[in-house]
Amino acid sequence: MTPFGFAMAGDPKNPVMPGCGACHPGGGGLEFDRDGKRYDARLQAEPQLAQSLDGDYFKSPWDKTGVVEADCFVCHLPGYNFKDRIKQLIMQNFKWASTSASGIAQVTGFVREGQTPAVQYNKRLFNEDGKIYLELSGPPPSENCTFCHSFSDMRKRGFSWNDRINHDVHNLKGMGCADCHWSIDQEHNFAKGDENVSTVRDDLDNTMKNCKQCHEQGFMGAPRPAHLSVRPNHLEKLACETCHIPTLHRAAAEGFDVTTGTLVNYPKLGATQVGANFDWKPRYARKHKDGKVWPVNNLLPTVYTNQDKDGIYYPLYAREIGKGYEKIKDKLKDKKPGRPELHTPEEIKLMLSALAETLKGNKRFQQIRPNYHKGGQIHSLNEKDEIVTAKDETWCGEGEGFNINHNVAPAKLALGANGCADCHSDEAHMFKGQIVTDIFGPDGKPTYISSGRLIGCQPWAYYVNQFHQTYLTPYVSIILLFLVFGLVLHYTGQGPKGADFTYEPGEILRFTLTERWTHLVRMIAFLLLTLTGYIFFYNNVTLLRMFFSSPSSAVIFHWVAGLIFLGASVVALAHWAKDARFADYDKEWLKKRGGYFGGKDVAVPAGRLNAGQKIFFWLTAGLSLLMGGTGILMIFKSSLPLTLNCLISTIHGFFAVIFVAAIIAHAYLGTIANPGTWRALVDGKVGRKWAQKHHSEWYKEVAEKEEKE
Ligand code: HEC
Ligand code: HEC
Ligand code: HEC
Ligand code: HEC
Ligand code: HEC
Ligand code: HEC
Ligand code: HEC
Repeated sequence: MTPFGFAMAGDPKNPVMPGCGACHPGGGGLEFDRDGKRYDARLQAEPQLAQSLDGDYFKSPWDKTGVVEADCFVCHLPGYNFKDRIKQLIMQNFKWASTSASGIAQVTGFVREGQTPAVQYNKRLFNEDGKIYLELSGPPPSENCTFCHSFSDMRKRGFSWNDRINHDVHNLKGMGCADCHWSIDQEHNFAKGDENVSTVRDDLDNTMKNCKQCHEQGFMGAPRPAHLSVRPNHLEKLACETCHIPTLHRAAAEGFDVTTGTLVNYPKLGATQVGANFDWKPRYARKHKDGKVWPVNNLLPTVYTNQDKDGIYYPLYAREIGKGYEKIKDKLKDKKPGRPELHTPEEIKLMLSALAETLKGNKRFQQIRPNYHKGGQIHSLNEKDEIVTAKDETWCGEGEGFNINHNVAPAKLALGANGCADCHSDEAHMFKGQIVTDIFGPDGKPTYISSGRLIGCQPWAYYVNQFHQTYLTPYVSIILLFLVFGLVLHYTGQGPKGADFTYEPGEILRFTLTERWTHLVRMIAFLLLTLTGYIFFYNNVTLLRMFFSSPSSAVIFHWVAGLIFLGASVVALAHWAKDARFADYDKEWLKKRGGYFGGKDVAVPAGRLNAGQKIFFWLTAGLSLLMGGTGILMIFKSSLPLTLNCLISTIHGFFAVIFVAAIIAHAYLGTIANPGTWRALVDGKVGRKWAQKHHSEWYKEVAEKEEKE
């Protein structure tokens, strides 16, 4: 395109759709040539330029049309007639566009039709001295921004601003575009973020306040979220928009197809047209710059390129594609008009062969090798004129999608407001939603992928994680309650074991000081782990804030306690592994169930540890190692794949519950079920009678040893 072509682009027979010039507000390349000179002035001075091959002037009557200056009114004048601007520019009335569209005059006649436009000023707006006073708006009204930024609501974002159906909380509260995208300097450089795909003015990236900054600082009275129901690490992994823009209500475009040589927009599947009242949920992508999960609107391309001698894939111009399509149009009679949908190998071959022919002699290329890009695949013809299909690794393939940042829903609709299941459940869109990857796949129907795969989660892993969030967590308290209830039943039914744990002379040492210390350390570490683990498990942000300065300090505390516990567990293993080896007499103990169910006074043989204690010992040793192993892995969670994270965090959570249950039972047996047993913790001594009764085999050993001495 020449600058002139850019300025006047559009359909002169029906000048209603904005061409490039209408939306690009003027100034810059619409006003000045590459040497910084005004087109109209220079062409007047050097008329021969219009005959030269200089792209700035080639065949362009700038001297008659004037240039497109920056139009202040397009933003600052409420009620600006943007439709008129479109028409004036397409009809080549460049220098009259602002005058006409602002309504300060009526302009008749069009340069494009060989006329010289006449201007009839609206005298009512002028004072007698010829000065005009207009009610300009600063900052500009959002309606004016959306003249240009609304077009498709896919990348220009916002035709649904001020929309009752697809509202935005900020808009509802009376904020406008310029409240977030203000002008950062006298030059009208607008504050902006760092959009995923766009490369417009990268030097201005992140000059605006983002969601986090406004809401953390309480800027303009923005509420500071407590986020009591949000898992803290999710605030680091998910963009604010991911939770706060769960659904959009106007159909954006799902994809486009350029087969006819013009752009065909496909609305979201199921919607009648782009812009229709239609609910859809975003696709999720890891934004490449920060690795967070972002909601995006992906626009699936169906495009043609030619691979030239240098190996580069050059997109074909619409007119080049159109020529090819003209040749095969009649053979595609069964297609909807304007919707060619080439998806069978035969159809694709037809089009590529036609392109190979019509591109012959094209001066742009040294080699003709047309390609068809669609749904992440690239189709081309080989030497034998057969269709070859491969994964599309070129830049024309699928993109990451345009960020979704507007249409923020009220907080009560945010994902997570109803618990973790808003995302981690069968119904939730986050992982299990179906995302279109090709608008018309090999059979002409759309192809899909589950949403979670796009952010790196294998389907089985999110089932595992879902088990954790939707079944384990809610039911655990009930299970533990049942356990306590069972113990109470046991206690009331069986009562405490015979109170034979009384002080008596000649007590023997059952546990040494180091053994007792090991037990104590394990116990304290376990209690701390349970406290922090409980906070993580139920995401109890209130307790978290009560005990810790930040979520990460709670996590570090948990690690440290965990490592201490693991260390103490290894020491415990060294202490007791020998005593915990199973012996023959353990069978009898097991047969009589240790005398815990009926028959308080049955004599059961046991070593230093009875069979029950041995089982418990090995169980906790196993659990400690399992918890330690998965726990240590979780320290490095941020650098592990999501699939593995889901697995280990579920294992860790599941066995933590079993561990806690086991310890509750252990505490019961060690205290009220066997009164006095707790003394083993304090001085480690036991009476002889007790030892003889409860640990007969061990007592025999001790007694033998004493005799020898
Ligand atoms: C409906 C209004 C509109 C029309 C029509 C329009 N543009 Fe734009 N264009 C925009 C807006 C708005 C942006 C900035 C978009 C953004 O970053 O979200 C833009 C950005 C661009 C960019 C920078 C893209 C990038 O990501 O780096 C180019 C180049 C461009 N337009 C060229 C054109 C050309 C060529 C035409 C005519 C064929 C055209 N535009 C027609 C509104 C429009
Ligand atoms: C693309 C839209 C746009 C165009 C075109 C535009 N402005 Fe602005 N203008 C803005 C925005 C946005 C602000 C910043 C408002 C804020 O920061 O609160 C602004 C601020 C201003 C201000 C500061 C005063 C105030 O009320 O905030 C002046 C003066 C101004 N513009 C003059 C102009 C002039 C003169 C032109 C034409 C050469 C022009 N503008 C063209 C969008 C535009
Ligand atoms: C006349 C059409 C038009 C109007 C009106 C307009 N813009 Fe733009 N805007 C554009 C175009 C075109 C671009 C791309 C700039 C370029 O590449 O030169 C753009 C770029 C931007 C960008 C940067 C986009 C990016 O991807 O980096 C922001 C932010 C923006 N505009 C905000 C606004 C705001 C706020 C208003 C209202 C005050 C506004 N615009 C009014 C046409 C317009
Ligand atoms: C409540 C604040 C807010 C309001 C109001 C708002 N935006 Fe944005 N806008 C954002 C945020 C946040 C982003 C994302 C920045 C990012 O991706 O890093 C964004 C992104 C954009 C972008 C993409 C370019 C970029 O900044 O990376 C454009 C263009 C844009 N907005 C235009 C508009 C227009 C036009 C309006 C009014 C119709 C508007 N915005 C209203 C907050 C706002
Ligand atoms: C320029 C600062 C600013 C930016 C940027 C901004 N907000 Fe806001 N936000 C506000 C203000 C101010 C309010 C409250 C308006 C009121 O209540 O009058 C608000 C309100 C909200 C609410 C409504 C809370 C409720 O009561 O339901 C939510 C949710 C919200 N913002 C989320 C976001 C998200 C998500 C983003 C990023 C896309 C964002 N905000 C960007 C300033 C901002
Ligand atoms: C994992 C989902 C999730 C993420 C990520 C998230 N939020 Fe929220 N947000 C919620 C939920 C759920 C609520 C409502 C209940 C609550 O406050 O816990 C909420 C409430 C809010 C509110 C309303 C607070 C009030 O008191 O009215 C604002 C404002 C807000 N969030 C802004 C943000 C900002 C800014 C970010 C990014 C830094 C963000 N949120 C990230 C889920 C999330
Ligand atoms: C807004 C949707 C959403 C909500 C609500 C949500 N999650 Fe997640 N969750 C995700 C996403 C997305 C990931 C993948 C994050 C990543 O690793 O990038 C994830 C990952 C996880 C993981 C595995 C990775 C890790 O952090 O260890 C766990 C465990 C998890 N979530 C637990 C929860 C719990 C517990 C809740 C409720 C308090 C919850 N989630 C609420 C979306 C959500």
